[in-house]
Amino acid sequence: MIDSITVIFCLFFLCSYLRTSTSLDSLSLNQFIKDGETLVSANGTFEMGFFSPGNSKGRYLGMWYKKLTPLTVLWVANRETPVHNNSGVLKLNENGDLVVLNGENTMVWSSNISSNRVVVNNSITAKFLETGNLVLKTGKGDIVWQSFDYPTDTLLPGMKLGWNFITGLNKKQTSWKSIDDPAKGEYSSAIDPRGYPQAVILKGSVIRLRIGSWNGRGMDIQHSH
Ligand SMILES: *[C@@H]1O[C@H](CO)[C@@H](O)[C@H](O)[C@H]1NC(C)=O
Ligand SMILES: *[C@@H]1O[C@H](CO)[C@@H](O)[C@H](O)[C@H]1NC(C)=O
Ligand SMILES: *[C@@H]1O[C@H](CO)[C@@H](O)[C@H](O)[C@H]1NC(C)=O
Ligand SMILES: *[C@@H]1O[C@H](CO)[C@@H](O)[C@H](O)[C@H]1NC(C)=O
Repeated sequence: MIDSITVIFCLFFLCSYLRTSTSLDSLSLNQFIKDGETLVSANGTFEMGFFSPGNSKGRYLGMWYKKLTPLTVLWVANRETPVHNNSGVLKLNENGDLVVLNGENTMVWSSNISSNRVVVNNSITAKFLETGNLVLKTGKGDIVWQSFDYPTDTLLPGMKLGWNFITGLNKKQTSWKSIDDPAKGEYSSAIDPRGYPQAVILKGSVIRLRIGSWNGRGMDIQHSH
């Protein structure tokens, strides 16, 4: 026999299950998530939200594999500019920019498309794709900004390093300063576009290792002097 207490308990658990299992993978204009809330890609592979690395108390907007422990951070937005308490927000603002705001509504990071060239209207949405790419797209489906163009220290399948000679954007990976600080560290890997494009590892601006150009079988690796 099922009494009403049992029914109420079941409803309670069902409701809390439904509440925690519905997660957003996109933001429309003026929509936001607060610290403690996350975006989850459609099939639950990637999750995005605020985290504190290592012993840091700073809050950073990052993404990681949802099902992998310990937390493995793949991308960080405000890597140089942490939020200092749990009042941070990720928002798609009225200009069509993704922004990280602190508790005083001051912008600490922006996708910065509005100050560049991009004309948007209120059909713009931010979507967190199942590939781990966070994109801003227009109503027509044109991608006007994507996190894949701004790697942190990890390359995900589909991300490419290299120069875009039209926009002048140099996509490169840069190490974290330390496990407690995702700010840009000393090491980066990039494509050296001079001559034949070559993958290189740099310490600061000095090339430490040329990974070489594709020779048809593999990469030619040579240390530089
Ligand atoms: C999500 O998973 C379903 C079922 O496994 C699959 O059919 C679909 O292609 C997946 N979608 C993406 C974007 O990976
Ligand atoms: C968080 O920090 C901001 C300043 O960056 C401050 O205005 C706000 O009151 C703080 N919020 C809490 C809950 O401490
Ligand atoms: C945004 O873009 C403009 C124009 O390219 C640039 O001058 C400015 O420094 C950028 N701001 C940020 C916060 O990246
Ligand atoms: C604004 O959005 C509508 C609806 O998606 C679209 O048809 C229109 O072309 C957009 N206008 C501009 C300037 O992007």
